[in-house]
Amino acid sequence: MNIKNRTLFIADNLDILRGINSDCIDLIYLDPPFNSKKKYKAPIGSPAEGAEFKDIWTDEDIKAEWHGEIAEHNEELYQMIQAAEIIYDKSMKIYLMAMAVRLFEMKRILKPTGSIYLHCDATAGHYLKIVMDSLFGKNNFRNEIVWCYTRMSAKGQRQLSRAHDVILWYSIGAQWCFNVDDIRLPYASGSKKREGHTLNRLGSGYSKEGVTKLNPLGKFPEDWMRHIPYLRGKERTGWPTQKPLALLERIIKASSNEGDIILDPFCGCATACVAAEQLNRQWIGIDISPAAEDITKLRLEEIVDKESNLFSPFTDVIIQTEPPIRTDITQTATQTRLPKAHTYKHEIYGKQEGKCVGCNYYFPFRNMTIDRVVPKSKDGTDQKENLQLLCNACNSTKGARSQSEFIAILKEQGVRTDTT
Ligand SMILES: C[S@@+](CC[C@H](N)C(=O)[O-])C[C@H]1O[C@@H](n2cnc3c(N)ncnc32)[C@H](O)[C@@H]1O
Ligand SMILES: [Zn+2]
Repeated sequence: MNIKNRTLFIADNLDILRGINSDCIDLIYLDPPFNSKKKYKAPIGSPAEGAEFKDIWTDEDIKAEWHGEIAEHNEELYQMIQAAEIIYDKSMKIYLMAMAVRLFEMKRILKPTGSIYLHCDATAGHYLKIVMDSLFGKNNFRNEIVWCYTRMSAKGQRQLSRAHDVILWYSIGAQWCFNVDDIRLPYASGSKKREGHTLNRLGSGYSKEGVTKLNPLGKFPEDWMRHIPYLRGKERTGWPTQKPLALLERIIKASSNEGDIILDPFCGCATACVAAEQLNRQWIGIDISPAAEDITKLRLEEIVDKESNLFSPFTDVIIQTEPPIRTDITQTATQTRLPKAHTYKHEIYGKQEGKCVGCNYYFPFRNMTIDRVVPKSKDGTDQKENLQLLCNACNSTKGARSQSEFIAILKEQGVRTDTT
């Protein structure tokens, strides 16, 4: 592992994730922005004052080469993301691309026995489930956890209150950690009454001779939770979209053991990190907002055992802004930060949004060829500005022609009908 316990990165998580060694994290919990088209800000005077982030997605939030990276890595996923633009809008496509490149890295850094919990909302959750099925595999889907809470309705509201969140749990493979005994819940009074009895054949009552046994540790939990309120008063830091500690405690207890490494790449006011510390796990947090540093230290200060004096949040939490250097591969620092898929072809594929600039049809990454707009025979250079991608059929038709001559031919043939 190339990162120390209790490291908080204040940076864009993509850069940090790319610098983490492969196969070294036991559990990832992420609660990313959801394409809610809102800006969030902590209230003035709250412990998290200064924290703000936007959840509005435009072209500026993605790099052209991510198109090529996703299309090359996972063609079906790229097509699904393209479809999201048609079904929803362009912001959903951009958001899903930004999530996909990060989820690629999260999958890489998880141990083969690891798990990932992705916290979703009603806007993007169903799209994210397809992304997760595609990346982690439908066989590694473990649960869709529904966390129910209550909230006040708005004046004049004409639909049901949205009062649940979905958390998608995927394992990396066929072996995963599941400590059910650490998250059992109290039995309902009806079940307690039946203890020592059994249901009669008609199921309408129970006889005295039966043997119904209840587990002394509690009942096996369902994939829904309704015993965790949204946020208790004194726990509230003011960090927008803060999640309850009790929720993170359940996830961490269920899917990790003491000493394991927990990563939250969108950690906000460090709820997952605080829960991990309380449960004797190691943790790494990442948040782009500099306000995360103070609130993380403050929250940890409240829970450390002052008597044992083993750890002091204000001196022992490592704050880092630079990406780590991977030690499991030999690369220079600059190479480490760049994904393998960062070539002209990936970038141009993004600028053309996957379409051939001849026939204007969409083609998979592998079926596109780099071509010079002005051919070499007419002194065309290999500069990025003179390069474009054509499908194989267009590429052979174009030959040594310039792009304008080639488009004229396509129009003659009726392949293109546009007037430009
Ligand atoms: C929904 S909040 C997480 C709240 C957190 N679960 C908690 O309990 O406080 C999302 C967080 O992601 C952070 N964020 C957004 N984009 C990021 C990025 N590219 N890298 C790292 N953090 C990012 C925001 O600053 C925000 O704190
Ligand atoms: Zn073509």
